[in-house]
Amino acid sequence: MNRQLKISPSILSADYGNLESAARDADRAGGAAIHIDIMDGHYVHNFSFGIDVIPALKKKTGIPLVAHLEIDNPDAFIADFADAGADMIVVQEDTCPHLPRTVQAIRRTGKKAGIGINPDRGFEKIEANPEILKQIELFIVMAVYPGFGGQPFSPTALPKIKKAVLMRDRYGADYDIGVDGAVGKETVPGIVAAGANYLIAGSSAFGGGDVIKNVETLRALAEKALVKSRRVPGEYV
Ligand code: DX5
Ligand code: ZN
Repeated sequence: MNRQLKISPSILSADYGNLESAARDADRAGGAAIHIDIMDGHYVHNFSFGIDVIPALKKKTGIPLVAHLEIDNPDAFIADFADAGADMIVVQEDTCPHLPRTVQAIRRTGKKAGIGINPDRGFEKIEANPEILKQIELFIVMAVYPGFGGQPFSPTALPKIKKAVLMRDRYGADYDIGVDGAVGKETVPGIVAAGANYLIAGSSAFGGGDVIKNVETLRALAEKALVKSRRVPGEYV
């Protein structure tokens, strides 16, 4: 399996007064997608972007847009985010009473589907419905609790990445394994060595300095970690 490294800048940490420039920077940095956290003040104690940010950014850039729904009752909004132009919709597994139905609902819109799992959650719900693993393009291991950028890395993430690799093999799935939260210079080597290939970068991309350089730094660290973990360069298995 030749799996590529993907870096997705998260605009949660960008300058909200200039999202157009953030989107363009993410694109020029070779970002795989712009990660857009949608927060509702219920599931998390914060608000971020609403649905309308999706078509607004779509007009300004060609880079794919990922809507990460950190909201209660995401089922009620899947069609809205799809209609708004999100290229991928990611739900938090603990917000979905019937996860297979939610994943199917996303797929029916023609959009890519992803699932996020929080630091304190096990894999029971997912393994009880293994068919969904073949229906998602992205499995996100949350290394922080959703809600805010700039939190510390949860040690629960590394074993979860390894487990996501095992599940992918066991169930014949093909998703990218993403990490969201505290992806930065210190954590990238361990994250990549554990088997993740999709890095969602908030503060480490937009928190200071040049976005393109910041993303380059993360990419270089990931490639180095890959060589060290004795995988073939460029292949994230
Ligand atoms: C947290 C979000 C993340 C956030 C990560 O609720 O899901 O996407 O942007 O921020 P950093 O990278 O600063 O931890
Ligand atoms: Zn996110």
